[in-house]
Amino acid sequence: AASSRYEAETAPVVCTGTIDANHAGYSGTGFCNGDNAVGAAVRLTVTTSAAGTATLDVRFANGSTTARPAAVLVNGTSTQTVPFAPTGAWTTWVTTTVTVPVNPGTTTIGFSPTTAGGLPNLDYFDL
Ligand code: GCU
Ligand code: CA
Repeated sequence: AASSRYEAETAPVVCTGTIDANHAGYSGTGFCNGDNAVGAAVRLTVTTSAAGTATLDVRFANGSTTARPAAVLVNGTSTQTVPFAPTGAWTTWVTTTVTVPVNPGTTTIGFSPTTAGGLPNLDYFDL
């Protein structure tokens, strides 16, 4: 089970876009509506006690008809791509899991969209 929830609308998460609350079903007080552009990233800095692999559950909604792929940047280096497939509606929130290497101390994890649609709407990250 996740032990830390990072809401997209709350520091240390940085949203390149706006914090919106117009599509029901989100956690907390809103979600990150990222700018629709390549590289309009969302980033968070996490603190962990040991080096290893962290499992991050990313909750998102993609009400468009096309995927919104994003590179996962760990301390600035791309480790993988997350597809962020359509979920059917902006109010249909789902969770996808990514595993990332972490350092003892702080690790910055970014999601940088690779297509002009930008990111899906992002609700939270569970580490
Ligand atoms: C719509 C929707 C937004 C979403 C945007 C998008 O405008 O209301 O929540 O972020 O589409 O395509 O990215
Ligand atoms: Ca958007």
